[in-house]
Amino acid sequence: MNVILLGPPGAGKGTQAKRLEQRYSLVQLSTGDMLRAVVASGSDLGRKAKTVMESGQLMPDDLMIQMISDRIEQPDCARGFILDGFPRTTAQAEALDNMLKNKGLKLSGVIEMKVDSEALIERITGRFSCAACGAGYHDRFQRPKVDEVCDSCGGTEFSRRADDNEATVRSRLAAYREQTAPILPYYEEQGVLRSVDGMSDIDEVTRQIETVLAAA
Ligand code: AP5
Ligand code: MG
Repeated sequence: MNVILLGPPGAGKGTQAKRLEQRYSLVQLSTGDMLRAVVASGSDLGRKAKTVMESGQLMPDDLMIQMISDRIEQPDCARGFILDGFPRTTAQAEALDNMLKNKGLKLSGVIEMKVDSEALIERITGRFSCAACGAGYHDRFQRPKVDEVCDSCGGTEFSRRADDNEATVRSRLAAYREQTAPILPYYEEQGVLRSVDGMSDIDEVTRQIETVLAAA
């Protein structure tokens, strides 16, 4: 099963991708996480990515397409993958179609997570994650069971993303509206676009995605 989760910053793509990974034994392919790893490496590309991401703009298409093309060649992707944050432009969507065709793969579904953009600022500015294992939390919507202790690994160090401030979030939302939302009709025409209510609580969104995938 190969699935795309599409939605603006804070829609819940990463939260749901982690759950689908476990439920269906798929691999989460988050281009944002891949870029954050490049930034952490301190390379020249990492320095460039840091500047672009902190401004809320998108990285160049050719680079992102190559990154995903290399990643889906890896053996673990043979069991199926969830794309989280890719494609983000029409050029990326077209390149993905070619890539899948060349590899004899198909999309099981493109799931749009519909959300109210006003709610996203609170979701994003309240987000934090475990510094040791990366498990995601939220100050209000998804607190660890024991304060300041990670549910998954027991870690006690947490971090926040450098692009999770209100000014950058507004640029990221504009980039989504202008460059990513236009790919929705592209998938609608292909008959693979489905939507879920991303404003429901986290468990309910998971149930809706599972229903969509069961029918795929
Ligand atoms: P990326 O890392 O992909 O960020 P994004 O798209 O802005 O999305 P987020 O990760 O912020 O949100 P999410 O939908 O994963 O939400 P989450 O589940 O965490 O990209 C970052 C940057 O990298 C881009 O700006 C760009 O510069 C660059 N980039 C990446 N891919 C690129 C590409 N393909 N091309 C070019 N550039 C690229 O949820 C958010 C919070 O809300 C969490 O705290 C969570 O607990 C909470 N939450 C989740 N669901 C719910 C719910 N249903 N109810 C209440 N709270 C919820
Ligand atoms: Mg994410």
